[in-house]
Amino acid sequence: AQEDDGPAPGDILVNSKGGAVLTPADIDPTAKTVVIAYAQDAAGNVKKGNKNKIAVVKVDPANVGSESEGRGADGLMAYSAICTHAGCEVKSFLPDRGIMRCPCHGSEFDPANNGVVEKGPAKHRLASLVIAVEDDQIVIKEGFDAEVGAQS
Ligand code: FES
Repeated sequence: AQEDDGPAPGDILVNSKGGAVLTPADIDPTAKTVVIAYAQDAAGNVKKGNKNKIAVVKVDPANVGSESEGRGADGLMAYSAICTHAGCEVKSFLPDRGIMRCPCHGSEFDPANNGVVEKGPAKHRLASLVIAVEDDQIVIKEGFDAEVGAQS
């Protein structure tokens, strides 16, 4: 697989810092930041690059809406980490509201409802992955479902 293929089914999520394989316990629902991950394929290649950055969060499973149903695992959800407004990393998490926030201009996205925009200036939602937990690893089942990166 090429780095620019993007996250693909069968890849596992690894921490973008240091490359450790992520387990569900690494995603703290009370954290004020998302975990930035990359996809690693079966051959051990890590798919780096801005558009391959994945933001992983944990939301209350009770809040997961119908569009996100079946896309996550017990409240674990994975999205493109690149803000659709101007391409910053959507790295803040507001645990009280379960909302992801881009620190550049304050756009907010709802990870329990397939990444929809809660607050602009972003106009487009974050692309999501379908993930599952297998053998305590976070495995990608489907790649991004929408355009990744800044969009006008
Ligand atoms: Fe994220 Fe502007 S780049 S809000």
